Amino acid sequence: MLKRSTINQSIRIALEIFKRNQLHLPAFAFWSTAQWDQRGHDADEIRDCMLGWDVTDFGWGDFEHIGRTLFTLRNGKHHDARYPKSYAEKLILDPEGQRAPAHFHRSKREDIINRGTGFIVLELTASDPEGNPAGGSLQVAIDGVSRTIRSGSRVQLSPGESICLAPGTIHQFWGEGGNGIVIDGIRYGVSGEVSSVCDDRSDNVFIGGGNRFPELLEDEERAFYLCQEYPAAAELK
Ligand SMILES: [Fe+2]
Repeated sequence: MLKRSTINQSIRIALEIFKRNQLHLPAFAFWSTAQWDQRGHDADEIRDCMLGWDVTDFGWGDFEHIGRTLFTLRNGKHHDARYPKSYAEKLILDPEGQRAPAHFHRSKREDIINRGTGFIVLELTASDPEGNPAGGSLQVAIDGVSRTIRSGSRVQLSPGESICLAPGTIHQFWGEGGNGIVIDGIRYGVSGEVSSVCDDRSDNVFIGGGNRFPELLEDEERAFYLCQEYPAAAELK
């Protein structure tokens, strides 16, 4: 199970790394649980569109290698007229050596952008109509320039570069080398994601399985709510 102490520590590192990369976060990134417990319906968009901190080990029990720490800045919600945004944006902490399981999205189209100072490496694989990895080649666009690559091969993004991933593209990406900021011997990249609406409860297909919102082990006090944990709006007086 993913430990709360691991989540707290990873959010603290993300706050430090984002700051050192001059990536400034909105106020709700810093709201304490006590502040959240006082919030009314004015913050419903944050709750309902699952904005904010998102830390997961995908149920694999090996956070150091298979995990993710993300902050969702904006998002819409399918089939909910209150949240008509058709776009989403995230920041992702990319510790060297950690990646999400290989996965693809059923409907989300996403641009992965290198927002840090290290390199971001992506491994990209085509999928067949049943959602299984396929051979052959696939078409990607890096900052508007299309490229045909062999399925299963890697692409490296330098700071500022981005790649557009179409739905159905199996992908994994991670920070690697370059001038990524180092804390306690670990080098950190930062990626951004700009995409169509993100529905992490149903749009992800993990190759080899995965639980996007795994069970947590409460071994220390929660420092921040995760995006799936917000309390219901406090009763408005
Ligand atoms: Fe993805």
